Amino acid sequence: MPKDWFEWHDLYNTEPRMQQRLQLVRESLSKSLDACPAGIIRVVSVCAGDGRDLLGTLSNHPRSKDVYARLIELNPKLVERGRAAIESAGLGKQIEFINGDATISSNYIGVVPADIVIVCGVFGHLADEAELRSLLRNLSFLCKKGSFIIWTRRYRGRANGISYFENVRKVLREAAFEEVSFKLTLTKDVGVGTHRYLSEGSALPKDQQLFVFFDLPTE
Ligand SMILES: C[S@@+](CC[C@H](N)C(=O)[O-])C[C@H]1O[C@@H](n2cnc3c(N)ncnc32)[C@H](O)[C@@H]1O
Repeated sequence: MPKDWFEWHDLYNTEPRMQQRLQLVRESLSKSLDACPAGIIRVVSVCAGDGRDLLGTLSNHPRSKDVYARLIELNPKLVERGRAAIESAGLGKQIEFINGDATISSNYIGVVPADIVIVCGVFGHLADEAELRSLLRNLSFLCKKGSFIIWTRRYRGRANGISYFENVRKVLREAAFEEVSFKLTLTKDVGVGTHRYLSEGSALPKDQQLFVFFDLPTE
């Protein structure tokens, strides 16, 4: 098991499920960017890791110049690597990489409502379904009507008699997120979903905790 989240990212070099997951996330991001109306596209990444999903997508996307993004990540070594990648891609004026706590609402001031919210590697680190429902309610602070959210969930058994993937899809439906796509990796053990928010967003509160992340480097 990786000893920390920096080491966890090494799994992208060796694990087919991680490589396929990344590929699917980038495809979802690319399609979501395609679907955004003309003008600025605001993107936030919650618990962003080193940002390779968004940065890899922007490297060859026709809308990349329209993107203004904020990535929020707690691990300073991942942020440092992400910032270096942003600089070498010449995206420093458009992408901020914040070394901070993605669970706190104030860290989203100025970039929300977002057109695209990336919540990859988060749903598997919530205590239970009630916490997932609470996070989805709080996504109304980051989203507006029509915002995309892109999420991942690893298969780890069943909840409420259905697989964890199916449970997340059900809870999303009930929380006013409409499914745009859902794909499994070829390894069949990671799901990648894109959903659209159907309700109106709400004003971002100050210093509110949006969710609690169980900080174990497993996924
Ligand atoms: C499963 S990894 C996912 C990383 C990235 N989204 C990806 O899919 O490659 C979870 C990440 O959340 C970060 N993290 C954990 N708690 C956090 C918090 N409160 N605020 C910001 N990042 C956090 C970890 O450091 C880790 O990089």
